[in-house]
Amino acid sequence: MKTRTKKTPSKPKSNSKISSISLNGKQKLNAEELLRLEKEYCSWGDTVHYAEEPKIFERSEGSYLYDIEGKPYFDLQMWYSAANFGYNNKRLAAALKRQIDTLPQLACQYLHREKIELAARIGKANEERFCEKGRVHFNVGGAQAVEDSLKLVRNTTKKSLMFAFMGGYHGRTLGATSITSSYRYRRRFGHFSERAQFVPYPYCFRCPYGKKPDDCGLHCVKQFEKQFETEYNGVWDPKAGESEFAAFYVESVQGTGGYVVPPKNYFVELKKVLDRYKIFLVDDEIQMGFYRTGKMWGIENFDVTPDIMVFGKAMTNGLNPLSGIWAKEHLINPKVWPAGSTHSTFSSNSLGTAVALEVMNMIEEEDFETKIQQKGRYFLAALKDLQKKYKGVIGDVDGLGLALRIEVCKPDGYTPDRELVDRMFQLGMEGNLTAGKKKYGMILDVGGYYKNVFTLAPSFDITKQEIGFALDLLDQLFRKAIG
Ligand SMILES: Cc1ncc(COP(=O)(O)O)c(C=O)c1O
Repeated sequence: MKTRTKKTPSKPKSNSKISSISLNGKQKLNAEELLRLEKEYCSWGDTVHYAEEPKIFERSEGSYLYDIEGKPYFDLQMWYSAANFGYNNKRLAAALKRQIDTLPQLACQYLHREKIELAARIGKANEERFCEKGRVHFNVGGAQAVEDSLKLVRNTTKKSLMFAFMGGYHGRTLGATSITSSYRYRRRFGHFSERAQFVPYPYCFRCPYGKKPDDCGLHCVKQFEKQFETEYNGVWDPKAGESEFAAFYVESVQGTGGYVVPPKNYFVELKKVLDRYKIFLVDDEIQMGFYRTGKMWGIENFDVTPDIMVFGKAMTNGLNPLSGIWAKEHLINPKVWPAGSTHSTFSSNSLGTAVALEVMNMIEEEDFETKIQQKGRYFLAALKDLQKKYKGVIGDVDGLGLALRIEVCKPDGYTPDRELVDRMFQLGMEGNLTAGKKKYGMILDVGGYYKNVFTLAPSFDITKQEIGFALDLLDQLFRKAIG
């Protein structure tokens, strides 16, 4: 038998570069030191390393982020539409500070005033909009709220299969990933037995059926309904009068899919089909909710009432990860959705509910609908001028409210040009754009089925002058990137 000689454990090999960085909390590390530590100690599994050279930011205000050297970056994506009401919004910060001084922590099993008032305000807002009584259930993070909505659907129907859109995005927990179209998010994580059946979205610029919006007669809805024609299409049992699919998850305007706006009557026609086959409409408002499209909820632009709604992000202007679901009373009343149906320690945390309540105050005091629609029209008109200047290269611009898109193409006006978009994105991050004698960066978000779309979600407080400024920076980016 081999005997092991007892060795004194050797010291782990020190990485001289890293160990030379003092981490006693007394010295302020510079950007280079922080980036070296980040490379070594942070997981790269999030989205930071999508960028070639990640950037560290230190301050934010209004429409601007400031890097560690104090250089301003004009932000046209506002944290993927989480910070709709501007960075460092003083009124919302004050609400947060007030709550920190009164009830900063409370286990979610107990009640607090702000939670109750917030749920009631959202519930009443939806009663006004949809003439439907409902209830609200809070959680943290968009994907977790999507999970709760899946549980709610499954609880009611006892079914676990869903329809969802190609190009749709609902988050990256396992359940949310199973209804998110991109296989890239599932590939390394085993088999998703309950993966949704993905249905083409009405993306008219690239119609999946090769039709033109003027005379297509909503061919896409007809194609969807065709699945129910016979049991042999695999979704419907005509004898039992039941579908194998419980709900259809939709984003009224696709977010990550490239801020694609559907034809006006698409959802009305789709809802008729869903009602005929007893399939719930679950409306994911996580990115488009809270006035991004000029209405409180994106779906309001399309005249249908969802059965369940999911929201998050801008509900707290990104100051707290509070999220939630709203559902019609018959789906969520205490008889069918009793205590303990779902829970998280942080679900209705008091800091989040206090800020969200202040957001509700703001949107009830000010006419955001008019404001966002006016600014959106002005911005879109400016984008159309830019499109004329870069004919072909900007294949499409469109928008609803302040959810705007620039689809970048090869000079033929149609073939996606992802490389150009990547160059522009990097140039924006480099921060060498100029205005007068000052240097600026630009923060853009890239989306779309071919990653060739700038999805613009500017701050609601953006002024006409700032829109002009943003257009000037975009112009510089196109000029530099095209070369
Ligand atoms: C439409 C939509 N649903 C769900 C999510 C997931 O939300 P979260 O990132 O907060 O988990 C997102 C995030 O971008 C989203 O845009």
